[in-house]
Amino acid sequence: MYASSLLVQALLATAAFAVPTQPPRIARRLGARRLGRETLAAESTTTTGPVINASPGTWKTVIGTFTVPAASQLTSATSASAWVGIDGDTCTSAILQVGVDFTVSGSSVTYDGWYEWYPDYAYSVSGIGFSAGDSVTLNVTATSKTAGVATITNASKGVSVSKKITSTAALCEQDAEWQVEVFSSGGVVVPSPPVVFTKEEAITNNGTIIIPSGSA
Ligand SMILES: *[C@@H]1O[C@H](CO)[C@@H](O)[C@H](O)[C@H]1NC(C)=O
Ligand SMILES: *[C@@H]1O[C@H](CO)[C@@H](O)[C@H](O)[C@H]1NC(C)=O
Ligand SMILES: *[C@@H]1O[C@H](CO)[C@@H](O)[C@H](O)[C@H]1NC(C)=O
Repeated sequence: MYASSLLVQALLATAAFAVPTQPPRIARRLGARRLGRETLAAESTTTTGPVINASPGTWKTVIGTFTVPAASQLTSATSASAWVGIDGDTCTSAILQVGVDFTVSGSSVTYDGWYEWYPDYAYSVSGIGFSAGDSVTLNVTATSKTAGVATITNASKGVSVSKKITSTAALCEQDAEWQVEVFSSGGVVVPSPPVVFTKEEAITNNGTIIIPSGSA
């Protein structure tokens, strides 16, 4: 998996984001506490992290930085994800998200970047690799209510990939979210992985920077 990911990186050195996964690897599901990410096999999802609810039209950008966890830190989690997003909490008609999945298999873990504009599916990111200990910054920016940019940056190396996205599902721009989400199946209760955002920032349409309370 890792070797093939390196190969893809080599082949797509100048590429940003990959074509849609066919069929979608991750599906949305209505009725989840927050809209968006859920593996096809998962029966439940738990999200942890701050949400700032504001008036419609408030949020332009949500940024979060976290350190990629090692396999040893994720042994009990079958599948988890760290993401930032605009909407999806009090606004349920759309959500613009970007994140990284951590999928544990035995003693190894694979990392996959993705972006999603609900109600469309999540799309995989190519052209960026992840290793335990990397500092990764996620940035979703709404350039309008129906267009935006999702960016994943390797903060330690300055490597960055961006994808411009448009949707017919308009954002409300009223929820800013920084979430660590865990997917579980078979009735197994999976503890949240020890992933924390070390930087959390939301920027309003007038340029004001807001930091969620309790943030590092
Ligand atoms: C970040 O850079 C480090 C050091 O070159 C590299 O090992 C790692 O794979 C990169 N991570 C990302 C997310 O690009
Ligand atoms: C976030 O992404 C937007 C759109 O690409 C960009 O204009 C902005 O500078 C980024 N913010 C940061 C802090 O990197
Ligand atoms: C900018 O937006 C914030 C949040 O919506 C608001 O509290 C603040 O008053 C606004 N500032 C200006 C100068 O419009």
